[in-house]
Amino acid sequence: MSTLLSVSGVSKEFTIGSRRVRALDDVSFAVEKGECLAIVGESGSGKSTIANIILGIYAASAGSLNFDGQSLPAKRTKGHRRAIQLVQQNPLSSLNPRRSIGASLQLALDVHCIGEASARTARVGELLEEVGLPADFARRAPAALSGGQRQRVAIARALACQSELVVLDEPTSALDVLVQARVLRLLKELKERRGLTYVFITHDLSVVRNIADRVAVFEKGRLVEINGTEAIFADPHHPYTRRLIGAVPVVSREEAALRDRLMERENGNA
Ligand SMILES: Nc1ncnc2c1ncn2[C@@H]1O[C@H](COP(=O)(O)OP(=O)(O)O)[C@@H](O)[C@H]1O
Ligand SMILES: [Mg+2]
Repeated sequence: MSTLLSVSGVSKEFTIGSRRVRALDDVSFAVEKGECLAIVGESGSGKSTIANIILGIYAASAGSLNFDGQSLPAKRTKGHRRAIQLVQQNPLSSLNPRRSIGASLQLALDVHCIGEASARTARVGELLEEVGLPADFARRAPAALSGGQRQRVAIARALACQSELVVLDEPTSALDVLVQARVLRLLKELKERRGLTYVFITHDLSVVRNIADRVAVFEKGRLVEINGTEAIFADPHHPYTRRLIGAVPVVSREEAALRDRLMERENGNA
C-alpha cells in the first residue's frame, strides 16, 4: 500500500473576538490509497476542521499536508480541487436550490473535467445511474428529492470527475436508518468500483464498524488513538476511546439491529 494523504503536525486556531480556540493541536496521520479511514470524536473535537483543512477551505495554522507524494499547498491547484472532494452532512446546503440536479452536475463536470462539452452532457445521466437514480432526475429541483436521493446527487457530484480522495463529513447522519444503510452500501460499492480513498467522519460507531478499515479518534482537537477498526473495538487503548465505545449509541439498539439486518440482506443480494 502507498500513502495518498499525510497530515503532519497540523494545528488550527480560530480567533473569535478576543477568544482563541485551538480546534486542532499537532495532528498527524496518514491515509493509505484505497482505504477508508474513519474519524470519530464528540461534537467540537475538530473533525470538520480537519475536513476543511484537507479540502483547502481552511489553511492550517501550523503543520503540513502531502498528497500523492507532493506537498499540498494552501492555495490548491485545479488538479487538487478535482482529486479531493467533499460530501457534507446536509446536501441541501451544498446544492443550489434554483438549479436543477442536472445543471448542478453539469457545472461540476464543466469545472473539473476535460473533454468535449457534448460528452459531458451525456455524462450527467450516467452519473445519476451510477448512484442509483433514474437519469431523468436531471430535470428535477433539489427540493423535489428525498434526503437520501439528494445525498446520492451530492455523491454523484463529488465523483463527477476523476476524484481520488473523498472526505465525507457525517454523510449519513441526517438520514433515517434504512436510507442510511442504502447510502452506506452505495458508498462501499463506489469505493470498490472507482478505487477511491475515503476519510469518513462520523460520530456513529455502527457506521464505523460497517465501512472503516481504520479509525482515528479525536478528543478536543488532538488525535488520541489510531488503529484498525477491529482492534479499536476489541482493545481500545485510550480512556477516551473506551468511553466513546461505551457511550450510548446515537441510534437506538432496535434501529441498529434493523439496519444490520437490512445491510446483510442487501449485501447478500449483491
Ligand atoms: N469557523 C470557525 N470559527 C471559529 N471557531 C470554529 C470554527 N470552526 C470550528 N470552530 C471551533 O473549533 C472547534 C472544533 O470544531 P469542529 O471542527 O466543527 O468540531 P466537530 O466537527 O468535531 O464537531 C469547536 O470549538 C468549534 O467551535
Ligand atoms: Mg463537524
